[in-house]
Amino acid sequence: MNGKRVLLIVGGGIAAYKACELVRTLRKAGASVRCVLTAGGAQFITAMTLAALSEQPVHTNLFDLKDEAEMGHIQLSREADLVVVCPATADLLARMAAGIADDLATTLLLATDKPVLVVPAMNVRMWGHAATRRNVMQLRADGVSVMEPDEGPMACGEFGPGRLPEVDAIAAEISNHFTNGHRLAGKHVIVTAGPTHEPIDPVRYIANRSSGKQGFAIAGALAALGARVSLIAGPVALPTPAGVRRIDVETAREMAATVEAALPADAAVMVAAVADWRAEAATIKIKKQAGALPTLSLTENPDILAGLAHHPQRPGLLIGFAAETNDVLEHAIAKRQRKGCDWIVANDVSGDVMGGDANTIHIISANRTESWDRLPKDEVARKLAEKIADALQ
Ligand code: CTP
Repeated sequence: MNGKRVLLIVGGGIAAYKACELVRTLRKAGASVRCVLTAGGAQFITAMTLAALSEQPVHTNLFDLKDEAEMGHIQLSREADLVVVCPATADLLARMAAGIADDLATTLLLATDKPVLVVPAMNVRMWGHAATRRNVMQLRADGVSVMEPDEGPMACGEFGPGRLPEVDAIAAEISNHFTNGHRLAGKHVIVTAGPTHEPIDPVRYIANRSSGKQGFAIAGALAALGARVSLIAGPVALPTPAGVRRIDVETAREMAATVEAALPADAAVMVAAVADWRAEAATIKIKKQAGALPTLSLTENPDILAGLAHHPQRPGLLIGFAAETNDVLEHAIAKRQRKGCDWIVANDVSGDVMGGDANTIHIISANRTESWDRLPKDEVARKLAEKIADALQ
C-alpha cells in the first residue's frame, strides 16, 4: 500500500474504536490516512485520537470555515485513492443510498469520483431489516463495494451477522483493491446471465434451467478487477454485484438487442442459458379445454453469441459457455467452432450443478484445454476474470 492515500470516514457505533486500529494497520502498510469523523462517530472516539494516529488533521464539520479554507470537501476526496467508510451505520448506508448530503461525510461521498468501500457494523436485526437489505443492494448497484459483516456475539448482547470484520480482513480488502483493482481498468466487458423467458401466454413461459449465479459471480469478479461491466440478466432474483451496471431483460430477443446496444466492448462473456425457441404468445390466458391439447408453434431465437462473433463490432475476446450432460469436451469443442467464439467454458451439468455452488469446468481455446476441478462458482469467476485480464493485457 506504499504511497496510497485512504480517506477514512468513521461513522457512529461501538465498532468506531476499531477504526483507530485500522488507521495504524494501514499506516504500517505504507498508506497515508486522512480521517473524517461523523457526529455519531464522535460519540464513541475523539478527533484527537484519529489525528494522533493518522498524523493528519481530522475533519468533522461541513461548515467549518477553517476546514473549507484549508481543504474543501471536494479537495478531500480528490486527494484520495480510495474512500473507506468504517464503520458504516444503518443510517449512514441509508443516507448514502438515497444520495442525501447533510453532513461532511455524506456530502463528500456524493461528490467523490473515487472508489468507495463500505464496512458496515450494526445490530443483527438492523442488518437483516428489509430497508438495510434494499440500501445495500442499491449501493452495490451504484458501484460501491460493501463488505459483508462478520457473524458472532455483538456488543448489544445478540448474536448474528452485523459485527465489524477483523481489522486485518478490512486491511486485506483495501490492499486487494490497490493490487488487483486496476488490472481491467478502462476495459468494458459485457456479461449475459440467467435464463430467458419466452412467453406462451401472459402466465406461462418456456425457459432453460439457470440460476444466474455463475454469470453474476463473473460480472462481480470482472468489476473487482476494475472493468466496466454491463450485466445483461434474464429473470433471476439475485443482488447486483458491486460496481456492475445491470440491465434486466426477459426474452432472448430483448437480450440480443440489449447486448447489441451495449457494444462496443473489449470482451463479452455469454453465460446466459438462452432459450433456443420462442412460441407465438397468446395475448390472453389460454384456457384448458377437456380433451384438447394446445399446439405450440415454435420459432428459433437469434443466437446472440454467434451473432456477436460475426458482428462488425465483435469484442476482441468472445467467450461462450457450454452446459453439457454427455461427451462434454467433444460437444464443447464443436460448439466453439460452430459459434465462432475464442473460448468456450464447458461444464458437465449431468450432476447437481444447476443452482448449486460448485462447478467443474474446462476452458477450451483454439489450441488448448484447461480444466478446473470442483471449484465454488465464486472461485471459477475469480480465476476466469484473472484469465480474461491476462488475455486483454
Ligand atoms: N447462446 C446465445 N444465444 C442463443 C443460444 C445460446 O448467445 N440463442 C450462447 C449461450 O449464452 C452460451 C452458448 O451460446 O454461451 C452455448 O449455449 P448452448 O445453449 O449450450 O448452445 P446451443 O447452441 O443452444 O446448443 P445446444 O444444441 O447444446 O442447445
